[in-house]
Amino acid sequence: MHLNRNEEDILGGESGPVKQKAMEILVALGDIYGAERLVPIESAQIAGVSYKTIGDAGLEYLTSLTGSVVVPTMLNPMGIDRNKWQEMGVEESFVEKQLAIIARYESLGIDAQCTCTPYYVSVPRKKAHLSWSESSAVAYVNSVIGARTNREGGPSALAAALVGKTPEYGYHLGENRIPEISVKVDFPLAGADFGALGNVVGKILNSRVPQFSFVRPPSDDELKALGAGMAASGSVALFYAREVSKCRESLEVDYSDVDIYSPSDPDVVVLGCPHCSRSELVQIEQFLHGRAVRRPLWICVSRFVADHCRSLISQIEATGARVICDTCMIVSPTFESRTMTVNSGKALEYAPTMCNSQAFIETTKGCIDTACTA
Ligand code: F3S
Repeated sequence: MHLNRNEEDILGGESGPVKQKAMEILVALGDIYGAERLVPIESAQIAGVSYKTIGDAGLEYLTSLTGSVVVPTMLNPMGIDRNKWQEMGVEESFVEKQLAIIARYESLGIDAQCTCTPYYVSVPRKKAHLSWSESSAVAYVNSVIGARTNREGGPSALAAALVGKTPEYGYHLGENRIPEISVKVDFPLAGADFGALGNVVGKILNSRVPQFSFVRPPSDDELKALGAGMAASGSVALFYAREVSKCRESLEVDYSDVDIYSPSDPDVVVLGCPHCSRSELVQIEQFLHGRAVRRPLWICVSRFVADHCRSLISQIEATGARVICDTCMIVSPTFESRTMTVNSGKALEYAPTMCNSQAFIETTKGCIDTACTA
């Protein structure tokens, strides 16, 4: 990979050992994937934030870092809501470690917005290069917004944030953004159906770039659910919601393939994977309106969206549901070893492996009906 003078200097250690190490990571990645150069990034987003997932080794690694990121950088969800961890039943020893992790990231100049929907906080520019690591956010910004990011790991996104650049390969290059397989869905879908579809087709597509043909154009919330499901059960990082070119391969989906819903009798119902948008909160409030929640119903949202939807959240919480920020059902210890009903193709995929929880999927309305039934 070709480096300019300044990049060579960083690699040589002139900006200190932390940036030198970061540059070594970027150069190693660039060499592995055949990148010709580094490109400047507009922002970074870093996964590997919950103490549940990175543990003491992660905290120790972060403690060894100094310096500052050079582009706006946000974090993925952590293991607690920083204001409601007691309600969530999280032990103090976990909270201490979790807050130490956040303090370390903040000391590097990182904005401790802990969300998998950073695009609600700040929308990237079309065609901007990014270094993001949350797989559902990667799928969303590549596909819905038209920015360009590979599916980074936490360390490579942090390295890119410290240097302000990423190796130019994969989805940063137009030639790799061409659809590879047409997926025909000729029956109507709505809401959570898109997460279920994503869960089903992600397993078939793996990392290929699909282009869909739908009966009607999906909403942005539906595309978010679709991308999250495909990114979790497969490793799709870019998709098109309409036909843009001829593909050699094709796939036809039947309604029976996507109908993976089942009635459930869970310990908890959890919505907001990925974190809810304002319009999803509006819909949840409509389904809850005038009802009382009879079993735990948790709704995950970014603190940014929550701060902009205070009265809506008060109405939701008046029914007995709890809205939590900074965290989610997969990375918080609160949801370990439970029976969980979700409306998300991603949470359905991860709950058994990452939470040792049995998971069921229902529509958003089905989830709320379940939560309101003892
Ligand atoms: Fe977000 Fe957690 Fe789902 S990070 S995408 S709510 S698994």
